[in-house]
Amino acid sequence: MKLWGGRFQKEENKLMEDFNSSLPFDKRLYKQDITGSIAHVQMLAKSGILTEVEKEQIMSGLETILKDIEEGKLLIEGSEDIHTFVESNLIQRIGDVGKKLHTSRSRNDQVALDMRMFAKENGQMVADMLEDLGETIKRLGEENNYLMPGYTHLQRAQVVTFKHHMMAYNSMFGRDKKRLLNCLDILDESPLGCGALAGTTHSIDRAYTAEKLGFKKPVDNFMDGVSDRDYLLEMLSSFSIIMMHLSRLSEELIIWSSQEFRFVQIDDAYATGSSIMPQKKNPDAAELIRGKTGRVYGALMGMLTTMKGIPLAYNKDMQEDKQQFFDALDTVTACLSIMNEMLKTLKVNKDVLRSAVKAGFLNATEVADYLVNKGVAFRDAHKIVGEIVILCESKGVAIEDLSLEELNGVDPNFTEDIYDFIDYDQVFNKGIKRELL
Ligand code: ARG
Repeated sequence: MKLWGGRFQKEENKLMEDFNSSLPFDKRLYKQDITGSIAHVQMLAKSGILTEVEKEQIMSGLETILKDIEEGKLLIEGSEDIHTFVESNLIQRIGDVGKKLHTSRSRNDQVALDMRMFAKENGQMVADMLEDLGETIKRLGEENNYLMPGYTHLQRAQVVTFKHHMMAYNSMFGRDKKRLLNCLDILDESPLGCGALAGTTHSIDRAYTAEKLGFKKPVDNFMDGVSDRDYLLEMLSSFSIIMMHLSRLSEELIIWSSQEFRFVQIDDAYATGSSIMPQKKNPDAAELIRGKTGRVYGALMGMLTTMKGIPLAYNKDMQEDKQQFFDALDTVTACLSIMNEMLKTLKVNKDVLRSAVKAGFLNATEVADYLVNKGVAFRDAHKIVGEIVILCESKGVAIEDLSLEELNGVDPNFTEDIYDFIDYDQVFNKGIKRELL
């Protein structure tokens, strides 16, 4: 059944019908569509546009459709889109009274409502997953609060702790959650009642449906209400940033689990083997997360491009929002869950971290700080320590392995207390560095 056959004299071409149909993907909105319709019908009755009896008949029809879909008794197929599917099924079930459902409504405000409701619910779910991941990261850091090398340019730089390194990601995912919640706050306005673009002559009550459906308020402008997809762009942008963070963390896990680093061991359950090289254990979960990041960026770019040339108000181009958004949502949720599980089972190699700390002159900056405390200008101290590093390299030792005579051979300011000052564990008892613990 079509909802719009009246003015047409020819059948729709089959190719066109398939091309135009969004049902294969927008069937995912069945619950939001039915919930929105129920609120709409309640509002129509309250406003005297439908009778109480009509309202009851339509509501119970819609409720049984929802129940049948959820119990697998009703397959969603054979219509142009989910809105058409629900309405035609309703008419089949309850007869002519079902034709009154669409009073004072267009599919334009209907689809805008469905997508906002879907975005709200799922955005909250992603925010909860970010919270969980943040907790896992914190626990992993606290359980493995060992010294490790911190890097810049992927070269050993200064001593940090594994916990401090992990808590950097905790901060990132914390911001991601805030960003997402902020976007949910901005989108929290109901477009139902905007009609096709210009409202309706009936005295409907948009504030009533907005409240019933859990929105803060109805949208201010009808034309904007039906053509706004900013909230999807904002969510795709938040998803892209989440994926960028997940990808950076994945990259570290891949590097850290290599034989060259051996800082961590990814659990067998999240790795795979090679079909030819029997010794291989590959960090596929992390690599897939890194790879899928491109897909989510693609959805953001695709959606921005789709929206950029569309005149007001609704245009069919906007139907393209769904596959891109659904795919990005499914990708980000899959990546968040697998990262969470992978981190829960990650083993951290304390001893390897410790020997890496010993090997990279990671206390060189502290030696310079020591000289500054003795009154040497930092730029001069920097040069002196550079000479000490050359000396160590020629001898194949660490700075703390040099004798006081050897240190004094480079600069006279060193006394016995240098060894405590540059001890890797002691470094954290100084100034702002305490916060690294
Ligand atoms: N399937 C459409 C979409 O997803 C629903 C709205 C159609 N409205 C219209 N006037 N053709 O955007």
